[in-house]
This record gives sequence, C-alpha cells and structure tokens, in this order.
Amino acid sequence: MANHLNFKRHRRLRSSATMRSMVRETHLRKEDLIYPFFVIEGEGIRNEVSSMPGVFQLSLDNIVDEMKEVRDLGIPSVIVFGVPDDKDEKGTGAFVHDGIVQQAIRLIKQEVPELLIIADTCLCEFTSHGHCGVVHNGDVENDESLTLLAKTAVSQVEAGADIIAPSNMMDGFVIAIRSALDKAGYTNIPIMSYAVKYSSAFYGPFREAADSTPQFGDRKTYQMDPANRLEAIREAKSDIEEGADFLIVKPALSYLDVVREIRDNFHAPVVAYNVSGEYAMVKAAAQNGWIDEKALVMEKLTSMKRAGADLIITYFAKDVAIWLSE
Ligand code: PBG
Repeated sequence: MANHLNFKRHRRLRSSATMRSMVRETHLRKEDLIYPFFVIEGEGIRNEVSSMPGVFQLSLDNIVDEMKEVRDLGIPSVIVFGVPDDKDEKGTGAFVHDGIVQQAIRLIKQEVPELLIIADTCLCEFTSHGHCGVVHNGDVENDESLTLLAKTAVSQVEAGADIIAPSNMMDGFVIAIRSALDKAGYTNIPIMSYAVKYSSAFYGPFREAADSTPQFGDRKTYQMDPANRLEAIREAKSDIEEGADFLIVKPALSYLDVVREIRDNFHAPVVAYNVSGEYAMVKAAAQNGWIDEKALVMEKLTSMKRAGADLIITYFAKDVAIWLSE
C-alpha cells in the first residue's frame, strides 16, 4: 500500500534475523567477560553460596579444574576473592606471603598460565570487623588503610597478579598503590580501579560468599550514595589523575546512566560490575520459571555494553561463553 501519510518504515530493518544481525549496533564477545571466583581455605571444599546458585567457594585443590574450564570456554580473565580462616583488626591475611589469595594466584599462574588474573584489593574479607580498612573510633581511617592496601597490592603482584583492582574506596588508593607498585619495580602492572562504587544493597549475596559483612555500621562513609551522578565523575576524574588504567562502575544494572556518563567523560576502558544481587535476582526468578534466563542475561549484558562498558565482570561469564558459542 502506498504510504501517503509519509511516515518512516523502521520495520524494514527488522524483517529477518539476517537483516537484524546486519544492523545490530552492539556485540557481546567472550573477550568482554571477566569471571569472579571465591577461594576458601581448607581442602576438598566446594560450597555452593545459598543466595548465588551455581557460584561456589572453592578450596585450592578445586580451583585448577575450575580455571581450566573457564580458559577452555574462551574467557580471558578472572578476578579472585579470598575467604580466609583467620581474621584480625588489620586484615593481615590480605598481605601475607602465603595468604589464600596469593596462594591461589601462584597456583593458577603455574597451572593455567593463559588466564589473566585480576586481584581484588580490599581488606574487608580479612578484617574481623568486616570493614575495608583499619577502624578507629567506629570509622575507617583513610591514610593508615592506604599503607596496608598498597602492601596488599604489592604482595598480590609478587604472587603473579596481572592487574590490581582496588575496591576499598579509600581516598588516594590509586596513587598509593601506583607508587608502591612502581617502587617495587611493577611499573607495567595496570590498575583497574573501582572508581565508582556505590553503597549498594545489591552486594548482599557477595557478602555471604566472601564472608565480608561489616560487623557494625555500614560502608556509607566510603562507598558512594546511590543518588549521586556528578560525584561519580569526580571520583573517576581523580582516579584517572592518580593513574588508573581502567574504570569500574559498580553495580551495573541500576547504574547504566553512570556507565554512559563515565564512557562519555573519560577515554579509559570502562568495566561494568554485574554484581551478586543482580545475579541472585535473575537466578531466583529463573528457578521459579518466571523468566527466560538465557534471553534475560544476554539482554542485560548487551545493555551494559550499549551503555558504554568495554568489559563486564559477571558471575554469568561461563554461561554466556557457552551461549555465545551455540
Ligand atoms: C569488596 C568487594 C565487594 C564486592 C566486590 N568487592 C563487597 C562490598 O563492597 O561490600 C561486591 C561484589 C558483588 O556484590 O558481586 N569490598
């Protein structure tokens, strides 16, 4: 029928799968994926995290098979979180030579050298109080914490970490870690900064997985207020000035506007962290048969890329790698 109303026929470009794939603007690739995992002290342990079905705390003897699976699926990179037996006020387990994270990194480097290892640099899994730094008078002491975080980063790189990802949200953590790495001779190790990290209820399941729930108070004096957008730009700007090589925005899904903001304002690679609560919500709905898990996950991750993310840290990485190969 002739179109005498003179409107646009957008449906022309949606007429077949081939046509749609020709005009698709955003592509999710295996190379975009970073797989988070939890290594726990002990032997023969494979604990499923109750709020994160399909995610396990694994002891050292179980991580090599897991890492080989990740590598064989074509995922280039992993980020390691430690679950230690012993905790103290200073989080000593984070920076000792034979800490659980350091042991895991050494083992993976030896057995699965193709994987690029990102070390999350924080103290909260290692402190008795569960905060991300040293506590004085009920609050985290910024500058004293920096010294310990820098030590942690150096020990992670000594163990073989390829990238340092500081998630502690202390002011100055990038420059403190950069200068400590440089002093130790690790000038070529990049920093993937959790530049924009909100104080978020979406981290609940992670704190079960990493046993890192604060024992008093919350993280609101160091993590960002979810209501703020301009503050995200200030945070990212100072991290870039201090020497950050990558910028993480976390969480991802409720913060895609912020991902776009960071993409538009900076030229460093942007990483979206598809966090534990975002994973748990999808899993719960999928287990009830309420949503199509595969379609929903692919849509969510594609949205993160469309918003401007170059890389995505996601507990779905293995599933996505399989789906991308189908
Ligand atoms: C450590 C850290 C957290 C996450 C990553 N690194 C927890 C927190 O800040 O409480 C959360 C990741 C997730 O929810 O998947 N500071």
